[in-house]
Amino acid sequence: MLKILPGHVSNLIAAGEVVQRPASVVKELMENAVDAGAAEISVSIKDSGRTLIQVSDNGCGMSREDAVLAFERHATSKINEIEDLEQLGTFGFRGEALASIASVSEVTLRTRRAEDETGTEVKISESKVNSVNQIATPQGSIFSVRNIFYNIPARRKFLKSDAAEYRQILAEFTRIAITRPDLHFHFTNNGVEVYNLPPANLRLRIQSILGRELGKELVEISVDTTIVKIKGYIGKPEDARKTPGNQYFFANGRFFRSPYFQKALLKAYDNLIQEGHLPSFFVFFEAEQSRIDVNIHPAKTEVKFEDDYAIFDILHSAVRESLGRNSFMPSIDFDQEGAPEIPKVKSGYWVPPPKIDYDPLFNPFFEEGKFNREADRSWEPIKDSGAIFQEEHIVQKPVLQVGSRYIATTIKSGLIIIDIIRAWERILFERYIKSLTMESADIQKVLFPAQLNLSEAQKSVVDEKSARILQFGFDIRRSENGEYLLTGIPDSFSGEIERVDKLADTLINILPEGRGDIGAEVRERIASTLSSAGARQKSGTLSHLEARGLVDALFACTEPANSPSGYPVFSLLSVEEIEGRMSV
Ligand SMILES: Nc1ncnc2c1ncn2[C@@H]1O[C@H](COP(=O)(O)OP(=O)(O)O)[C@@H](O)[C@H]1O
Ligand SMILES: [Mg+2]
Repeated sequence: MLKILPGHVSNLIAAGEVVQRPASVVKELMENAVDAGAAEISVSIKDSGRTLIQVSDNGCGMSREDAVLAFERHATSKINEIEDLEQLGTFGFRGEALASIASVSEVTLRTRRAEDETGTEVKISESKVNSVNQIATPQGSIFSVRNIFYNIPARRKFLKSDAAEYRQILAEFTRIAITRPDLHFHFTNNGVEVYNLPPANLRLRIQSILGRELGKELVEISVDTTIVKIKGYIGKPEDARKTPGNQYFFANGRFFRSPYFQKALLKAYDNLIQEGHLPSFFVFFEAEQSRIDVNIHPAKTEVKFEDDYAIFDILHSAVRESLGRNSFMPSIDFDQEGAPEIPKVKSGYWVPPPKIDYDPLFNPFFEEGKFNREADRSWEPIKDSGAIFQEEHIVQKPVLQVGSRYIATTIKSGLIIIDIIRAWERILFERYIKSLTMESADIQKVLFPAQLNLSEAQKSVVDEKSARILQFGFDIRRSENGEYLLTGIPDSFSGEIERVDKLADTLINILPEGRGDIGAEVRERIASTLSSAGARQKSGTLSHLEARGLVDALFACTEPANSPSGYPVFSLLSVEEIEGRMSV
């Protein structure tokens, strides 16, 4: 027997698609506020949205009839005709959000239009209007959504930790606040104002949400074609990270995900960033509405462009052009023509000439008994890679500097060319891994605690996982005025204090993803981030002694042949090969 579902039940089903978690409510209400033409939008949440989500705006407001009608399914003021679907300039258009929200929570709406003297208050729960009152209220709308999923215990149980839900909410807030830097946004968490974002330009808006540091790392992209306009900012290659974080695509102001376009963008960074790393990006596409289909997914984070292929290429070349303009591209070094096949140049231009302050006799890891032998075992030398260096003591040979990036020295079987930066990465990487694997991470108090520039989401990670962070030897504390200070670092890092920012950042970004024992993974990530940052900081010209020290330290490594990210560190030009080249 067929039955028509009661309205309430079909609303619940739709709600499953639209309202997955408190963050979905924040997103829908904020989008409605933007659509209503508000200049100022305030979001306030309690208990990560479980208890209360309130969004108020000074937009157009609603009449008494509309205020009630707004909660009906498929009630929307934004679309009348099929043709309208093609010309959509607003976030909403399905008329599903409010109906869905009202089916899984207790909603109060207070609203007034500019032309009305009094406003309306509508109370609704389980899709039933409980009361409609005439009230005094400012122009605009205030939606208060209480006790989300109170009527679906399974759903409520399914919610993640407070901190995780909070980060989701922040993510939705951030996306909308970034698309509309021209609007004033407020964000309040448990009564504490977290953001007050007056109208600004895009770069400033990004900075004030995601941190001043990030803003400095961005370069502009901009291209204008008949198919699409692309504008925004992309991160510098050296600031790419292994953990996803600030990757934003917007199509006509709407956030979307696109592995396809991401590929186009990443392709432009080829050889500039390490395998598996992601740069930050904030890329805005603008195209005629009729060329974009946003209607393919209820949660609406997928967008389809009519001219996908062309846009792929346009995006790729826009990014490439911007990276080139900002001198991140390798320059062509004619010196290398006809040279032996040396490892692919990652970059020859933006890396400052290396200076090495290396003491060849200093090796902190040779202190007997100080290390965890168990853990060391995974770093046993790969037999073959080091084999060629056992044939003689390489340090005694002269070392030549070749260009700014390489040094060369001879061994019995030929000439060996070493990539200085990668060699440093390898040396530092092994040094860091060893110190991080030490039995007890001895924490050393720092004399001048460094203030960490954390985003709101990162702060919540620190609050949630400070004990875990401590296990890695980092002591991060919240000061009385809400600043986050790094007060202790692993003993072995005392010489690296300038880079603690990067360190803490890496740690904080890795932690939320990890499940179970992530010790080894965290150690590797920290070590590889630090070593690539550290290697780039070594600048200046190598003295002869320094160059020899570098060679020595490299071949004291357990895996000298490859950089931590898998690139070759050196290349051997054998006597036979030289002979081959010389023969006619
Ligand atoms: N903040 C608001 N200010 C004015 N009108 C609003 C607001 N929020 C919702 N509405 C009205 O309620 C209708 C239904 O909203 P919603 O369920 O989100 O559907 P949609 O946004 O898809 O139209 C909207 O079309 C709009 O007319
Ligand atoms: Mg809507």
